[in-house]
Amino acid sequence: MSWPIVLRNVTKRFGERTILDNISLSIPPGETVALIGPSGGGKSTLLRCLNGLNTFDAGDIEIGPHRLAPDARNSSDDLQTVRRSFGMIFQDFQLFPHMSVRENVVEAPTRVLGLPPKDADERATRLLQRVGMAAHADAYPQQLSGGQKQRVAIARALAMEPVGLLCDEITSALDPELKNEVLSVLEDLKRDGLTLILVTHEIGFARRAADRVVMLCDGKILEEGPPAQVLDQPKSERLGLFLRRVMA
Ligand SMILES: Nc1ncnc2c1ncn2[C@@H]1O[C@H](COP(=O)(O)OP(=O)(O)OP(=O)(O)O)[C@@H](O)[C@H]1O
Ligand SMILES: [Mg+2]
Repeated sequence: MSWPIVLRNVTKRFGERTILDNISLSIPPGETVALIGPSGGGKSTLLRCLNGLNTFDAGDIEIGPHRLAPDARNSSDDLQTVRRSFGMIFQDFQLFPHMSVRENVVEAPTRVLGLPPKDADERATRLLQRVGMAAHADAYPQQLSGGQKQRVAIARALAMEPVGLLCDEITSALDPELKNEVLSVLEDLKRDGLTLILVTHEIGFARRAADRVVMLCDGKILEEGPPAQVLDQPKSERLGLFLRRVMA
């Protein structure tokens, strides 16, 4: 599936505080978007709204033919489909510790999609090869390095054949070498045409791999555009300061 993703005037509040303030963003299929910005700016909240983990207060989100909105027009079918349409990957992997690598990848396609075990198993084999983890299919998460765990988490997300991957600082907890293992898997996925929306502090990676960089600050999009524009010629003092800090 390759669906465009369109956010229109999305606003999210927690109590009195506005966390996302009128966010509009249109992401064509296959685009890689790097979300950057200071802590508390709303990056994780934006990812969570996109895949229906958070509700929001105004605006709407279209994912292909499906639409999320704050009101009752939101059908639960749409919500279910949207949740399944994105693979979400977190900094702390969230693999099932009591399952082997292969079982982690097979679990959701069999349980949620009803894929026959043989097909799910073949899919797992193919995906573990794709992320370079085929040799570890029978290992358990605690036997793996952080970079290996993260590559399994990517294979597990891909097993649901998502429209896109939402990655929330997935390399932040990794050593530089392991970081690169994971980033190169993401670059492969990008080459294969998967839509990627990544919260990242890896400015070098964003410059190399992103089609677009979006800077989110205090719930607003402060700047967006191609990496060469946003990262190398920031218009605002705020973004310039942020970039100097993260690259220091
Ligand atoms: N469930 C919640 N209830 C109340 N406030 C929340 C909740 N989740 C997030 N917030 C607030 O929303 C703001 C944005 O949080 P969010 O996690 O989206 O920021 P972020 O840009 O991902 O930051 P970081 O870079 O630190 O991960 C923060 O001020 C946070 O305290
Ligand atoms: Mg966050």
